[in-house]
Amino acid sequence: MPDVSSSLALPVTDPELEARLRARLALVEKALSGHVQSRAAFITEAASHLLDAGGKRFRPLLVLLAAETGDRADSDDVLTAACVVELTHLASLYHDDVMDEALVRRGEDSANARWDNHVAILTGDFLFARSSELTAELGPQAVAIQAQTFARLVEGQIMETRAPAPGEDPVEHHLDVIAGKTGILIATSARYGALFGGASTEVEQALTAYGDIVGAAFQISDDILDIASDGAVSGKTPGTDLKEGVPTLPVLLARRHARPEDARLIELLDSDLAASDDDLDEALRLLRAHPAMDEARAYVLAEAAKAKAHLVALPEGPVRDALEAFADVVATRTA
Ligand code: IPE
Ligand code: IPE
Ligand code: MG
Ligand code: MG
Repeated sequence: MPDVSSSLALPVTDPELEARLRARLALVEKALSGHVQSRAAFITEAASHLLDAGGKRFRPLLVLLAAETGDRADSDDVLTAACVVELTHLASLYHDDVMDEALVRRGEDSANARWDNHVAILTGDFLFARSSELTAELGPQAVAIQAQTFARLVEGQIMETRAPAPGEDPVEHHLDVIAGKTGILIATSARYGALFGGASTEVEQALTAYGDIVGAAFQISDDILDIASDGAVSGKTPGTDLKEGVPTLPVLLARRHARPEDARLIELLDSDLAASDDDLDEALRLLRAHPAMDEARAYVLAEAAKAKAHLVALPEGPVRDALEAFADVVATRTA
């Protein structure tokens, strides 16, 4: 279980709010360990594997924080919703590592590396089922939101593997993909928090719009890190997107604004980078120095500003401050 007493993934400067979020997150952690239990010991082991490996718990934290905008922040439904989003996220990680042939997740062997693809896929299914079962406790509206969220996430994951439609701009296609695979679940986290915390409809809508933008920005920052960072901070293998040929914003921008001196980079990007570690290293080196990296960073910063603009619907105070700071951290994240 991650050490929730150390630091929260969300920057919270108000000590009272921070203490409350920590205490609530500890309850979520305890509940999550229960939800991954199966009648079969092996499934419990496989499902606990990535839960116990760590993770920032950013989505459940967002549920808890968004709930603070309402008058029922301490309700049990808020805790349940926090478990629902983390279980959905966790399940998607099991499946994602199969798709991306990723060997490391949360600093540990991925489930597909440790066991095999069948175990990883079925464990992901088990976790989705557990998430659905819990959502039913929240009532029909939550079930509908959850189903729509899951459908959109899967659409994003599948569309990532498909080329843009004829005439479709590759960057627009990509932004639609990430709005699905990552944005929607983060938007739903903020929405569930508002909904089950008892916030007004206006605040719920503002937080959903905020979550949508922050979620997509979070993915782009993650993709920048996949190029710029080393694996020690991310708990993943850098260069995985390039190796698997997964398009990301920095790569699409480098292609769009290719200069004469980028011929070698484009040649490498067009080749199978899974076939040669030397080529992969060279592509990473060239990309790190390419202006497209700063262009992608600037895009994320602009998106963070747009996300924060939605927060004017919230009363001023520590909760709004924390949500604002979070948008900034997403835009400049280094881990
Ligand atoms: C990883 O999400 C998948 C992406 C959407 C980039 P996180 O970065 O939230 O992963 P954990 O939960 O902290 O491991
Ligand atoms: C993130 O996928 C989206 C989901 C898991 C649904 P990525 O493939 O972009 O994320 P990482 O880099 O493996 O965490
Ligand atoms: Mg992946
Ligand atoms: Mg992926």
